[in-house]
Amino acid sequence: MKVVAVTGCLGFMGSHFTRACLLRGWRVWGIDKKTYAARSEHLEEFQHSKSFKFLEADIATMDHLYEVDIVFNFAAETHVDNSIVDSKRFLHTNIMGVENILELVRAKRNYEMPVLVHLSTDEVYGDLTAGNHRETDPLKPSNPYSASKAAADMLILGWHRTHGVPFVIVRPTNNYGIDQYPEKLIPKAVKYLSLGKKIPLHGDGSFVRNWLHADDTASAILHIVEHGERNTIYNVSGNYEAQNKEVVAKVLRCYFGKDVPLEDYAQFNYVRMGEDIRYSLDDSRLRELGWKNTKNFDEELARIVDYYKNKFTW
Ligand SMILES: NC(=O)c1ccc[n+]([C@@H]2O[C@H](COP(=O)([O-])OP(=O)(O)OC[C@H]3O[C@@H](n4cnc5c(N)ncnc54)[C@H](O)[C@@H]3O)[C@@H](O)[C@H]2O)c1
Repeated sequence: MKVVAVTGCLGFMGSHFTRACLLRGWRVWGIDKKTYAARSEHLEEFQHSKSFKFLEADIATMDHLYEVDIVFNFAAETHVDNSIVDSKRFLHTNIMGVENILELVRAKRNYEMPVLVHLSTDEVYGDLTAGNHRETDPLKPSNPYSASKAAADMLILGWHRTHGVPFVIVRPTNNYGIDQYPEKLIPKAVKYLSLGKKIPLHGDGSFVRNWLHADDTASAILHIVEHGERNTIYNVSGNYEAQNKEVVAKVLRCYFGKDVPLEDYAQFNYVRMGEDIRYSLDDSRLRELGWKNTKNFDEELARIVDYYKNKFTW
């Protein structure tokens, strides 16, 4: 049994991970600022468990960290488009938030320091047209979001070397699953279909992302904690690569139950400044520990589209 803190526990990936920790019998301090990306339904669900306690707090300004074995930091501003319009809150949460957590960990006695397991992203490496990024590759972020995430990774390495703060940095590829805020591609596509609007696609829709289910990310993190090394960076890849227009074509097939012309339902040529062409990760460091992802993209997509079509309100 472990006692852990999960920041961003009401967001998309943090909620999947909190559920996985509670299922494992761990005690969880959930911490969340309740921004627009938080879902109050998760709080109602988690509070049914006696092993869950909640603290509404901003990771950048909170002044106490409870006694825990591990801090899992999922709290972040995460939408690239928002970071292009207003970068301040990205720097506040994604950089100063991490600095504050590092200081709170450092302030504890050596033997009481929790391990900081920090959620980074494949986006810190920047894009590439072929091949994969390894954990040892230099960081080359392309937009304010990924720059703020890369900065946080650097802070962690610095606090480890200077203050001995124990850490694990996890860099997953694009996550998908139920309960993602509908600013992200899959729920956004279903939302636009439900509203009878064309789905906006960046460029000609050929940008490539690598998809990883949020439950697989949760299992990868738990696997790393139990079998991996401390003070190490781990890539996590879903190993399912697709162009954005291929993903939207699959969403259409799930939504209508048959193939329909993409052009009738998608609007191309939206411009995202600094757009990354393709992300791809080599996660053999993690797979050598015996971890495998188990979710099948097509099967899960059908469930997700059904969920957003029938159950989700926004
Ligand atoms: N979603 C992806 O595809 C993806 C892929 C790779 C890495 N990541 C990383 O995983 C983490 C989680 O991503 P997500 O998609 O679940 O995010 P999300 O946007 O769905 O949720 C973020 C959560 O953090 C909370 N939060 C924001 N600012 C906060 C602050 N200052 N203090 C406390 N709580 C705050 C929000 O209220 C929300 O509940 C992020 O670090 C993100 O960079 C995400």
